[in-house]
Amino acid sequence: MNPPLLLPILSYPDPRLHKVAKPVQAVDERIHALIERMLATMYDANGIGLAATQVDVHERLIVIDVSETRDQPMVLINPEIEWASPEKRKGEEGCLSVPGIYDGVERSLAVRVRALDGQGVERTIEAEGMLAVCIQHEMDHLMGKVFVEYLSPLKRDRIKSKLVKAQREAQRA
Ligand code: NI
Repeated sequence: MNPPLLLPILSYPDPRLHKVAKPVQAVDERIHALIERMLATMYDANGIGLAATQVDVHERLIVIDVSETRDQPMVLINPEIEWASPEKRKGEEGCLSVPGIYDGVERSLAVRVRALDGQGVERTIEAEGMLAVCIQHEMDHLMGKVFVEYLSPLKRDRIKSKLVKAQREAQRA
């Protein structure tokens, strides 16, 4: 069997990153194939999470793996936050759509999320630590929000010009 095809990841400030995703209607063969390709793409890029929005599919689907061993994939379809802890903490985040940029974002320490898994079975996930941060970050993507939008407009503009410049140089190369 051929390895699953990698998907191109959109880079900030691509306007398609700001599209709001629609619910997945059915966890069918098409979604299974998309999950497989998204996981392959995330692992290939050494990411800990990837939202469908980032591969230009605007449906509520996320893949995550925060394990050290890179063998604990999680799939969240149509995720909804049921509860988020009022206690928040600022931690450093990065994003496959914002290559090379890391900055502090304040997130809830713990969340409880309801979602379908890759088989379409409803699950409740209690998350804290890195997993809680990752779920909140990826769910933002589904709403068209990229983490740099939490930063000051000055910082965001600097990041934007840096990435636009890097993308232009990559095209010329
Ligand atoms: Ni991201």
